[in-house]
Amino acid sequence: MANDLPTLVLGIETTCDETAAAVVERGGDGSGRILSNIVRSQIAEHAPFGGVVPEIAARAHVDLLDGIVAGAMKEAGIGFDRLAGVAAAAGPGLIGGVIVGLTTAKAIALVTGRPLIAVNHLEAHALTPRLTDALAFPYCLFLASGGHTQIVAVRGVGDYVRLGTTVDDAIGEAFDKVAKMLGLPYPGGPQVERAASRGDATRFRFPRPMLGRADANFSLSGLKTAVRNEASRMTPLQPRDIDDLCASFQAAVLESMADRLSVGLRLFAEQFGAPTALVAAGGVAANQALRAKLEDVAAEAGTPLVMPPPALCTDNGAMIAWAGAERLALGLVDALATPPRARWRLDEDAVTPPQFANTRASR
Ligand code: KG4
Ligand code: ZN
Repeated sequence: MANDLPTLVLGIETTCDETAAAVVERGGDGSGRILSNIVRSQIAEHAPFGGVVPEIAARAHVDLLDGIVAGAMKEAGIGFDRLAGVAAAAGPGLIGGVIVGLTTAKAIALVTGRPLIAVNHLEAHALTPRLTDALAFPYCLFLASGGHTQIVAVRGVGDYVRLGTTVDDAIGEAFDKVAKMLGLPYPGGPQVERAASRGDATRFRFPRPMLGRADANFSLSGLKTAVRNEASRMTPLQPRDIDDLCASFQAAVLESMADRLSVGLRLFAEQFGAPTALVAAGGVAANQALRAKLEDVAAEAGTPLVMPPPALCTDNGAMIAWAGAERLALGLVDALATPPRARWRLDEDAVTPPQFANTRASR
């Protein structure tokens, strides 16, 4: 069922440590417009523990979400009766938080009589460049966050093929763990980047994981261990040591990433032809050194690079609302009985290419 009229969709995101809601309009021509986009980070709640505590996150979502939904509706200047649909991230993520967001969306859908759209959080990241840049399919997505590191061929709404994934830690997770072991505060990614900008990237020669491999997978735990070993060898660390360790770690991550993405882009071209663009998403895409490296990778592959603004790369409600609007336009709505899911592979219905069949699933 195609829908050519402009539609307004409310989107709710609660899969990790951001409580977020937004209203997005999708025009009959497929264009997107953000009417409101409220994100409340829970960093302050989790910082004393050095990482996200699932139970604290779920409770914070319960406390915050009603006010944030009301705020998003108010900022958009509309009542619930103007909505064409209600979308929530139904996974993958921390299950307590997912339950809070999905249940809230179901309640609004039930009361307003509007359809529910149960959005895969990864699909929302994947479709964001269509909201920000009206990007045409097919494109190559590089998703790098605290929970996910994937290269995905985005061929259409609901049509995704995972070309590469991490076999252990996600990139953001590796940044966060390195920060923690060096005594830098949470969340560690931005801290490591700051220290790295002052440091000497050639002082330590850390391994470049997976370099030269024929598949497009990532591995980061060996590199993380190498940093830990070097750091404990040098204890007590001077500020200069921390800066140099961060710079050397970041350089190794970026070199490995560039190699993995080059392979991913090659696999993409072999299987699906030229992509319209290489797209970066996820919190790690806020890293300036990484963004610069992506420019090189894209230029070398002769592919345009699309990077949505950092606020839409990290978790937010607008991406959920937009994915909901794209699905709604295709008549893809969900029953109120739809369950929340801690794990949910983006390409679940796709056939896994044989070379990836043994890698760990669903990160
Ligand atoms: O996408 P996101 O906001 O949340 C999810 O994980 O879903 O990503 C957060 C991750 C954290 O691991 C954080 O340390 C990392 O992104 N991150 C960075 C930078 N900014 C955020 N990593 C490296 N450099 C940065 N500048
Ligand atoms: Zn995310």
